[in-house]
Amino acid sequence: MKALVLSGGTGTRLRPFTHTGAKQLIPVANKPILFYVLEDIKECDITDVGIIVGHTKDEVKNAVKDGSKFGLKVTYIEQDKPAGLAHAVKTAKDFLKDDEFVMYLGDNILKNGIKDLYLDYKNSNYDALISLCHVPNPQQFGVAEMEGDKVIRLVEKPKEPKTDLALVGVYFFNSTIFDAISKLKPSWRNELEITEAIQGLIDTNHSVHAKIVAGWWKDTGKPEDLLEVNQLVLMDLKSSLKGKIEQNVNIIGNIDIGKNTIIKEGTRIRGPVIIGDNCTIGPNTYVGPYTSIGDNTTIIGGEIECSIIIGETHINCGKRIIDSLIGKNSIIGSIKEQLPESGYKLIIGENCTISL
Ligand code: TTP
Repeated sequence: MKALVLSGGTGTRLRPFTHTGAKQLIPVANKPILFYVLEDIKECDITDVGIIVGHTKDEVKNAVKDGSKFGLKVTYIEQDKPAGLAHAVKTAKDFLKDDEFVMYLGDNILKNGIKDLYLDYKNSNYDALISLCHVPNPQQFGVAEMEGDKVIRLVEKPKEPKTDLALVGVYFFNSTIFDAISKLKPSWRNELEITEAIQGLIDTNHSVHAKIVAGWWKDTGKPEDLLEVNQLVLMDLKSSLKGKIEQNVNIIGNIDIGKNTIIKEGTRIRGPVIIGDNCTIGPNTYVGPYTSIGDNTTIIGGEIECSIIIGETHINCGKRIIDSLIGKNSIIGSIKEQLPESGYKLIIGENCTISL
């Protein structure tokens, strides 16, 4: 069996981050989302992995390289335009050939990985196995209607959903999917939709089954999804200390502190918190639960909680920062530091959200 990871797309909902980088490389608990995906695939003993890339291909290639650090053999497949999930599968035909494959969306995370799904599909003769998750807001997802574990209908973002079973971004297919894709016409959003291809399989009496995933699943399409999944992943954080903690520092709960990182005196950290390499936190700083701080970051004074700082950032504003997603190379200073006259001095890209 092969794997196809989708790491192209536009990422409109994650602007401004996706103006400059791949959304699949945004870190959750200091690790890119795409790396969780690749590790899940490796756990299934699948080694032959195709990664669909789009305009952020250089960044993805630079992060994953030939895949050997994950124990995988990676082939990059360029999609000329982000024309839909089914278009991505079609683009990968030469790589997939007639093999069975798992398609995994590169911005999805599952608490328990995909091993159970893989074993179910491997030990069946289904044409397709899709995965589902109960959600409180099915109107925002592709939703499945079932008879036992057989799928009878898929509806994209239904106004009146018949079930609360959302389609998770992990699908197992055999080569019959290519026939179904060849019959598709672009949808209203001008994409070849994988839900329509799967519906095509159902309508032509192919066996399409579904399994409900155990544990949480998140599609990290929006900033709030990233903050939520960061919390979920940090809940399982184990403590580790590679850096240095000065005297008079108060730490509660699990924290992971990277190499050459210093926690300066008077600082309080309430885990779970992960801090990368070469950071300086403090003096007299509070870092609250569910915070991930990337490499080469300095935070002097103030408070931060429930946030992701991607890295290479300097914060010295003395304020309380919560529920924030802070991109690389950011500087958050105080008015005193920035301007002699009073007023906020902001250098902000497109599509930013700032609450002052
Ligand atoms: P989506 O989140 O559905 O699409 P998107 O990345 O374009 O984001 P937005 O809706 O905010 O503009 O994509 C799911 C995953 O599939 C994601 O990892 C990107 C990838 N993808 C492709 O590789 N090719 C495509 O043509 C599309 C639509 C998505």
